[in-house]
Order: sequence, then C-alpha cells, then structure tokens
Amino acid sequence: MMPSFPNISTSKDQQDGRKLANGDCKNQQVLARRQLILQHRKSLPIASVERRLVEEVRKNDTLIIVGETGSGKTTQLPQFLYNAGFCRDEKIIGVTQPRRVAAVTVAKRVAEECNVELGQKVGYSIRFEDATSSSTRIKYMTDGLLLREALLDPLLSRYSIIIVDEAHERTVHTDVLLGLLKKVQLARSHPTTNQHNFIKANAKGREDESRSFSPLKASESAKSTSLKLIIMSASLDARCFSEYFGGAKAVHVHGRQYPVEVLYTYQPEPDYLDATLITIFQIHLEEASGDILAFLTGQEEIESVERLVHDRIRQLPDGSQNLLTVPIYASLPSEQQMNAFKPAPSGFRKVILATNIAETSVTIPGIKYVIDPGLVKARSYNPVTGMESLIIIPTSKAQALQRSGRAGREGPGKCFRLYPESEFSKLTDSTVPEIKRCNLSNVVLQLKALGIDDIIGFDFMEKPSRMAIVKSLEQLFLLGALSDDYKLSSPVGQQMARLPLDPMYSKALILAKEFKCLEEMLIVVAMLSVESIFYFPREKMEEARAARKSFSSPEGDHITLVNVYRASAECLEKSKTTNSKEKTMEKKLNKWCRENFINYRSLRHARDIHSQIEGHIRQMGFSPSSCGDDMLQFRRCLTASFFLNAAMKQPDGSYRALSSSQTVQVHPSSVLFRTKADCIIFNELVRTNQNYVRNVTRVDPLWLPELAPQYYAADS
Ligand code: CDP
Ligand code: MG
Repeated sequence: MMPSFPNISTSKDQQDGRKLANGDCKNQQVLARRQLILQHRKSLPIASVERRLVEEVRKNDTLIIVGETGSGKTTQLPQFLYNAGFCRDEKIIGVTQPRRVAAVTVAKRVAEECNVELGQKVGYSIRFEDATSSSTRIKYMTDGLLLREALLDPLLSRYSIIIVDEAHERTVHTDVLLGLLKKVQLARSHPTTNQHNFIKANAKGREDESRSFSPLKASESAKSTSLKLIIMSASLDARCFSEYFGGAKAVHVHGRQYPVEVLYTYQPEPDYLDATLITIFQIHLEEASGDILAFLTGQEEIESVERLVHDRIRQLPDGSQNLLTVPIYASLPSEQQMNAFKPAPSGFRKVILATNIAETSVTIPGIKYVIDPGLVKARSYNPVTGMESLIIIPTSKAQALQRSGRAGREGPGKCFRLYPESEFSKLTDSTVPEIKRCNLSNVVLQLKALGIDDIIGFDFMEKPSRMAIVKSLEQLFLLGALSDDYKLSSPVGQQMARLPLDPMYSKALILAKEFKCLEEMLIVVAMLSVESIFYFPREKMEEARAARKSFSSPEGDHITLVNVYRASAECLEKSKTTNSKEKTMEKKLNKWCRENFINYRSLRHARDIHSQIEGHIRQMGFSPSSCGDDMLQFRRCLTASFFLNAAMKQPDGSYRALSSSQTVQVHPSSVLFRTKADCIIFNELVRTNQNYVRNVTRVDPLWLPELAPQYYAADS
C-alpha cells in the first residue's frame, strides 16, 4: 500500500513522504522478488521429493542422486539438508563442482534464495578466490580445492556431508576425490581401526611441515563423526558410482524437459566456425525470439567467432533485432562469466558462445536454440612418450544429448548439429574419464602429500594405466619432488605440493629463487595460466603483428610475455600517478590493450593469478627477486625446470623432442616460428594435423647436461 499524505504539507514533509514512498516501493520490489524465488523453488521438480531425499540421506551413508539438469539438485538439496539439521555443531555441507564458474554462480543464487549475504551462511571457495567465513554452512567449491583442503584436514572433519556434484564429468579431480572420500568415510566411521593407519600415513608424509600444515592429531579426529557422501550426476552413470561405493543406493529425480527438435546438416562442414557463424545468423533472421547457445572448443575460437559476429551485425538490414554476444569459458574471470547470466536488454537477442562449460555445469536462462558443431577440446596423454597434449575431438553421444537438452529447459527448442545424422551413430557413448588421458604428475604429487604412498594400489574408480603412473612417478623424481624411496622429498616436494600449479611450474618457481629471477618466473607462470595474451584480428593482421613485434624478444615467447606484463604494469603505474581511481586505471589498461592488440580479459586474469601465487610464495617465505634485464639467468632457470620439454632442431628445420623423440614444429604463434633456434624448451604440445609446440624459448644445448644432469647425464 502506498502511504497517503495530507494535502497541505511543508516541503520537508514532502521530502520525507517521497523518501517513504521510494523506500516502500523498494520494499515491494524486494518482496516481489522473494515471492518469485519462493514460487520458483516450489516449482522445481526436486521440491516434491524433499522429504524423501532427506530421509534417504539419513538412512544411507552414501547416496547417489541422478537427475536431469535443471531439476534443482545443486541449488536445492544443500538447503534441504541444512534445514533438516545436518549443520548442527557448526558442521558444514560441502558441495564440489568440477568448474569454478558453477561454484560461484550457484553459491550466489543460493545465497539469494536464503536471503543472506554471500560469504556468510552460503559461500564459495575456488582456487585464487575465497568467499567464505566462519559462519559459512553451505560451501560450494571446486573438487580440486577440496583435495587441497584435505592436506590441512585429512579427515575433512568440519564437514558433515560432502556432495560431489557433476560426478559424470569425471574430471581427474573428481576421480581422485572419490577415492579419497571413500577412505575418509571409512576412517571417520571406524575411528579406532582404519583411521589410525590413515592418519599415521598422513602425518608421516609431512613431518617437516607439521608447523605450517598442522595435521589433525588422532585424539582430535576421534571426536569426528561419520561423513555422509552424496554423488550427484546428470546422466545415467549411476551404476558405476553405485558399484564403486559397495552397492550404494541410487535415487532418480525427474527433470523438466520440453521437446527439442534436432536438425543435422546434409554434408560434413569443412569449416565449423564458419558454419557456426552462418547458423547464428540464420536463427537470428528466421527463427522466433529466444537466446542462442553455441558450443565452441576454446577461448581463441570463441573470440574469433565473437569478432566475426560483430562484423556481420553491421551488415544486418535496418530494423533487424539486435544481437548481443556473450562469451563464457573456464579461464574467463568470474565476474565476466556472470555476464552470460544477465538477460539481454530489450530489443536484443543474446548469443552465448561457450565451451563445454555450459553443457551441464551452469544453467543459463532463456536458451531456445543450441548450435553444436560436435567438437570438444580435450586433454590427451601418451604414457609412452610422457607427453600431454590438447586435441580437438568429437563429443560423445552423452555430451551431444546434454547439449541439445539445453534448448528445452523452459519451453520447446531447437538444436542444430553441424554434422550429418550418420555421424551421430559413430560417436562413442560416453567420454573417457580424464584420469585415463592426462599426465598424472599432479595427482600423484597430491596423493603423496596426503600420505598415500602406494599410488598403484590406490582404489581409483577407474585405474589409470600402470605405465601412466610409473611415468609420472619418474617425472616427479626427476623434478626432485620425490626422494630415492619415492616418498615426498623435503623441502622441494613439500613446497611443490603446496603450490596450486602443475609440478613443472611449481618447480620453476622454487628454482627461480636460486636463479634470482623469481619476479620474472612469477610473471611467466601467471601469463601461461591463461589462454592467448595476443590477438590477431583478421582485418588488422599487419598492425597486430607490428604491435607484437614491439614486445618480442629474440630469445623467445617467455621473455616476450615478461615484456608485455612489464609494459602493462608500467601503464597502470602511470595512470596511478595521474588519477588513482581504480575504474579509470582499468579503463586506461583496457585502452592500452586495444592499442597493443593484447587480450584485456586474459591480461586481467593473469594479473589476478599473479597476485594469488605471489601470496603463496610469500607465505612460503620466498621474497620475489628480479634479474632485471639479465635474462640469461632466467633462461637457465627455464632450462633447469622444463628440461623434460626440450627439443633440438633437425636438418629439415623441424624439431625432435628429446624426451619422447617425437617430431614437433614450432607453432606459428611463437616469436621463434621463423628464426629457428638450435635448441628450445617449450611449455605446451598442441596436436592438430601436426605436433606443434607453443611457448618456446631458445636455450643453449650445453645447459641441459649442466642443469639437468639427472636426466641428461653425459653417458645417456
Ligand atoms: O543442479 P540442477 O541442474 O538439477 O539444477 P540447479 O542448478 O539447482 O538449478 C535449478 C534451477 O534454478 C534452474 O533451472 C534455474 O532456473 C535456477 N537457477 C538460477 O536461476 N540461477 C542459478 N545460478 C542457478 C540455478
Ligand atoms: Mg547441477
């Protein structure tokens, strides 16, 4: 009700009245929003089975919940369990997600539904970002983060329930986490028997680090109660989870799915990016309103399609509806990822350009059309050569179905598969778990840090090949992370396990302290953690090349990245002195990036990562030292840490990777693409029609036996 005012009033009264009216209006809006949320929650398929689900959780220590995307599992179940009293005694309900973006968006949504401030009762924690407090009871996090928490608290004693969400994605972290949780659950339910070995093993693995890690003492852990485990999955993989957890009960929650019309192309598409572009405009010009979701394989592709869409928008006939592009991929900073969830302004149709992140992890409202070129970027590992690479491969049938399902969440939709129907039947049923196709060094290091020494005997849901495990043990040994008896070494192995990075990168930082180039290595590690710092728009190729040339180092890509970072820091420093408002500084940086053909999003992300890793490094007692312009030290340090990724030039101009004997080419994006150095080290192997190495630096071949004698001894 609007308040009524007397006819005659002083101006002060009038002002107060207006304030009151405004306040009231706001209150009404808030109330209306709350009402809407309440209705929405009640209408979700999971709402009708709340009591049954809570009952099942009470009865079963491990429960598997299968339900279609959008049924309300991720947002509702933790609230049901909270309301049912599972957070008594200050216990926490932990929900793990394979992806950062899901942890953040869902936590925000649930905080709003609970009408609390994010970071209080409901919070999230992801690598490089923590939004929790001592009052957090429902905590969303990445699966990798929970693994790291286990280093500090091996029994995960603060948690009463752990929900492993999106388990069907079978990321390497999910698989390791499941094995670990099985152990923790056993230890917590039998505190006097099984727990002992586990705790002992944990404490033993980190004797020297007890001060910084403060592992749980047996007496404290004895107080902990049993741990409930819930595995949530979108597809029909319940049986394998159930078998792994000793015949655990599985329950199904029905989803809401409207019909989706699936359309195929007549012929295979030679250029799927072009086909995507054409389909976007075909939908935009011919189909009824509704947003579009297009699946692409990575940041570079997304950005190039984004630019092409912008070019073509200008050619649209007058009076056409506007088109707004929104990218979403894993390495996009979270606040920018949020743009995908905002409704398009009126008069606009939204086209979301996403990686497989949008398959199941996040629910973006408003999607009516899905474009699926049928491809995904995946890790692939060759245990014989020890080389991991990124390749673009066809999706599985399960992925294709998930993708098309995204068009039918709110009403009937359409999915455009950019391949002929005959191709669909050739797809594999489901995706091979990541643990079977990635380098395991990181996993093995973490397990070792948790005191789990027998990696081959570890109860993996799906065992990686023995060869892959042996290869990673060998790599860690060569990096100095393991001692002669294959236990975590002190201090190097322990320090490496503390850094949330790939082992080679951690090693590079640790060595950089000795080589007195920690500042530079920190920059490189941060810059290599993001995709594509440079961009080359088709229409301005020459200008972009010239811009990059101004940063280029004849020694290679790593120093080039350092040059870019230093120049960007200088730009920020300059704008600080003229005007210190953060927004203005960011604007300046954005402008600088545009002028220099630097990807602003990537650079900002790299800057965030830089400050986070710097925090870790300082906590470890390292203080960043710079080698200034003496890049020789820096290149020697690169050689000492990435010696497993060294390659020698062959007479025909190609390179031979020394550890695997594979023939590789320098990627055209490298500053060393034309100037062929005799010996190089590289960071990444990308397989397309050839083996390409990216991020390459020239080194002296004599440094290899000098700096990595454990691998390049004179007689080998
Ligand atoms: O986990 P599941 O896919 O079963 O569903 P959910 O993530 O709990 O989402 C249930 C519903 O909540 C979605 O269909 C959306 O309508 C809504 N939701 C939202 O509006 N914003 C979010 N960030 C997450 C969910
Ligand atoms: Mg979910």
